[in-house]
Amino acid sequence: MKCVLLLDEERYGKVFLPETLEKLSQKVELIYRPHRTMDADNTRKIIAGADIAITSWGSVKMEKEILDAAPNLKLVAHAAGSVKPIVSPEFIARQIKITSAAVALGVGVAEFIIGAIIMLGKRLKEQVISVDSGGWVAKQGNEAIEMFQARVGIVGAGCVGRHLMKLLGNFDIASIWVYDPYLREQEATKLGSEKKTLKEIFSTCDYICLCAPVNKETTGMIGADLIRTIKENAVFINYARGLFSRRKLDSNLRQSVLIYQFPSRSISCIPKQTLRRFGKLAHLPEARLR
Ligand SMILES: NC(=O)c1ccc[n+]([C@@H]2O[C@H](COP(=O)([O-])OP(=O)(O)OC[C@H]3O[C@@H](n4cnc5c(N)ncnc54)[C@H](O)[C@@H]3O)[C@@H](O)[C@H]2O)c1
Repeated sequence: MKCVLLLDEERYGKVFLPETLEKLSQKVELIYRPHRTMDADNTRKIIAGADIAITSWGSVKMEKEILDAAPNLKLVAHAAGSVKPIVSPEFIARQIKITSAAVALGVGVAEFIIGAIIMLGKRLKEQVISVDSGGWVAKQGNEAIEMFQARVGIVGAGCVGRHLMKLLGNFDIASIWVYDPYLREQEATKLGSEKKTLKEIFSTCDYICLCAPVNKETTGMIGADLIRTIKENAVFINYARGLFSRRKLDSNLRQSVLIYQFPSRSISCIPKQTLRRFGKLAHLPEARLR
């Protein structure tokens, strides 16, 4: 069985451990041709005759012209999260299966959110700045909170949300509230959570974690009306990247609410002078200025 790795040189070294590639090569005939970029032309040449293709970040959408070069292709294994950048309607007609590493990657994301919940709740950044500048007093109106007996709200019970619930089970919190229209009541209970409305989550929870996908249905779902109701000193973690506009966030969030915005490329890679115009977003702990 011929399996091609459609990874550019940089990703090849980062995505797979040598021992993983070794294991894979015991199962399939593994083919890798180094290229700086894995554009459509290179992809078409490399994929010729393949039964399986492994893609990752930086791989191109697999449209008709590419798939025509691999008439035996049965499976695309996407070594990254969302398959949206890779998959095309042609997959259905050709009955090509696709799988991704979203579940495995979701574990690390959920772990990160736990870290963010603890660090942001404790206002660690503010405390460090205060101590570094010779002080010992937290800024007024920005009180530290703890997970003990806290209410945690999760929007989106997918790979990330579910693992987050599992990890939260290890803490002495009051409850986990979840909003996910596709999650059954019974399943929510099994996960140790209670189904609630967005309104209930935003106005009541001490920590709010957005783990929903960005799509037509969710865009605009988190409006100013919800953001305005977030409690004083609450922590708001947005892992769903661009689910709402910066304008809405800036003008409606209470000063004491701490936010963590997952760094999308558009935030973390823009030049410093442009970032200055981005208001509150520019001051987020993870925004890298250059
Ligand atoms: N898994 C990863 O590796 C990863 C990495 C970085 C960022 N993210 C981001 O984190 C978010 C969650 O990722 P995931 O892997 O858990 O996705 P997922 O597709 O596994 O889960 C998404 C969940 O959201 C639910 N959902 C759909 N519409 C909804 C709505 N209107 N309101 C509330 N919930 C809704 C779905 O039912 C599903 O349970 C996404 O925005 C994703 O881009 C994920």
